[in-house]
Amino acid sequence: MTSRTLYLIACAAPPARRLTIPIRAAQRAGWEVCLLLTPDAYRWAAEDAEGNLAELQALTGHPVRHSYKLPSEPDLLPEPDALLVAPLTSNSLNKWASGISDTLALGLLTEGIGRGLPIVALPHWNNAQGRHPAVRRSVAELRAAGVTVLLADEHGGDGGDGFAPHEPRRGNLDAYPWELALAALPDA
Ligand SMILES: Cc1cc2nc3c(=O)[nH]c(=O)nc-3n(C[C@H](O)[C@H](O)[C@H](O)COP(=O)(O)O)c2cc1C
Repeated sequence: MTSRTLYLIACAAPPARRLTIPIRAAQRAGWEVCLLLTPDAYRWAAEDAEGNLAELQALTGHPVRHSYKLPSEPDLLPEPDALLVAPLTSNSLNKWASGISDTLALGLLTEGIGRGLPIVALPHWNNAQGRHPAVRRSVAELRAAGVTVLLADEHGGDGGDGFAPHEPRRGNLDAYPWELALAALPDA
């Protein structure tokens, strides 16, 4: 049986340092995984000191994409069957909800809604960022468009489990609930 393809789209927030966790978990669940990074997340992964771009590329077996191709260039990745955006920053959240597609990651996310793809979003922002009125609005708009946004109840959740924003500079990477995102995906 041919595997279905999951695009894991990661923004520039600390869980982007741990992308081997969701990649391996999705592969165990039967997904072919392609990794796409926002330009800032790519800078982090490509960083000499702590980046692990080569490891991520080897793990997925696909190029790690972070920018739009030229019109003359071929598509490098198989078509997606589902999108998982994790970590989702407040920046990308608000741009996505506004329909902005000035990065490849946002282009896939904005188009993904119109294509009717299953989309799961696992946010990562602190509670000061989360209190900005645009965040609540954007989460509500994306949910109304069919996106599964995993936020804990007291932080704008809709009754399910999800990420609970922390105090600024008090994030705990070990508590980031990757497993909830994987569980919210359709079957591979
Ligand atoms: C060390 C560091 C940690 C950050 N953590 C977060 C975060 O947890 N959530 C968030 O929304 N933005 C965070 N930011 C800010 C984003 O990286 C910034 O808004 C960036 O423009 C996001 O771009 P992107 O959404 O295209 O990935 C952080 C920035 C730095 C330098």
